[in-house]
Amino acid sequence: MQSFFRASVRRSALPSSRIARAPLRASYRRFSTEPNASDAAPKAAKSNIALFAGLGAITVGGIAFYLYSSDTLATTAKSGAQAAKVAVNFVPTKADYQKVYNRIAESLDADDYDDGSYGPVVVRLAWHSSGTYDKASNTGGSNYATMRFAPEALHGANNGLNVAREHMEKIKKEFSWISYGDLWTLGGVAALQEMGGPKINWRPGRIDGEAKDVTPDGRLPDASQGAPHLRDIFGRMGFNDQEIVALSGAHALGRCHVDRSGFDGPWTFSPITLTNDYFRLLVDEKWIWRKWNGPKQYTDKTTGTLMMLPTDYVLTQDKSFKKWVKAYAADEELFFKDFAKAVSTLFELGVPLSQFVTSEPWQMQTLDEQKA
Ligand code: HEM
Repeated sequence: MQSFFRASVRRSALPSSRIARAPLRASYRRFSTEPNASDAAPKAAKSNIALFAGLGAITVGGIAFYLYSSDTLATTAKSGAQAAKVAVNFVPTKADYQKVYNRIAESLDADDYDDGSYGPVVVRLAWHSSGTYDKASNTGGSNYATMRFAPEALHGANNGLNVAREHMEKIKKEFSWISYGDLWTLGGVAALQEMGGPKINWRPGRIDGEAKDVTPDGRLPDASQGAPHLRDIFGRMGFNDQEIVALSGAHALGRCHVDRSGFDGPWTFSPITLTNDYFRLLVDEKWIWRKWNGPKQYTDKTTGTLMMLPTDYVLTQDKSFKKWVKAYAADEELFFKDFAKAVSTLFELGVPLSQFVTSEPWQMQTLDEQKA
């Protein structure tokens, strides 16, 4: 059984043999839909046997799959590294991804960085690597992790994300089998969950792309613009008004850096804990233009220490956006629910469904949950 499995996998690494890729995916899918994270590891050996046994049968389905899957060739060619890893018989389980999650979670705190955590900038990396998606051309998104390449790494919107990429590179060294797209989005999930946010459905399957897959500049939002721009940019990704507002709630976290975006300061008083304070402050505070030499931004009248970008403030000026700002200010649970759903969708933009190792949503456990 095992040698058959090896042989199929080895074939899948060859560009001329595309059909083996589909059974591999299908078998990953079965294998990885273990119901419970905590018992995924002990079951792994058993599941492998079932998986190997099932491969022959699935091959037929695999051929059919290939016939309608136009992305398969590219997928096969690009996944050489991952396939090579599988060829030496390593099939990551949910428990393996939980280990990566744990290492990311343990790496976030840093007394000498910003507000004491790399969490916010790691979230921003996951978002900027996903938010390039264009539904019309089905390009961009988190699949290929193209921000590793110039010119995307040098796009103005990505200023400062080298910090997050270098941070994640340390994790990648330890878990070389994980794709960058999976690593960065799992980083976003780990950071959000560890900073007190909701559980976010996440599943692996992204593959590493190439420099030719980089997206054109201008796909990420420009903070100096208004409501039509937000609808253009997020509408292109497939998001509606409610989702734009929910996603913007991530600005409860982190801060603007003059040397990265030109803007300055945090949005809330607790920039390393996810809360609905961003919305509460938008509703409760009086926001005035900051008098300074930098780009136009708002500051809170009461303390003069917080900030809002023009794209944040506009959420209170547009009737349809404002409805959601008020709803999330009044109800953190509602914000968490809608935010978790929108973020999960965001982090999967551009990833063909066939690539995911499972059709089930996964939830990774927080460090605290594992201690309990
Ligand atoms: C609505 C349109 C958005 C605009 C115009 C925008 C713009 C910005 C800007 C200018 C910064 C400051 C970067 C710096 O100077 O370091 C920033 C930071 C950040 N953004 Fe956004 N953003 C938007 C949406 C989002 C979304 C959808 C998310 C996540 C779901 C997000 C998460 C973050 C986080 C966590 C930071 C803090 C990074 C840090 O502390 O290093 N943003 N954003």
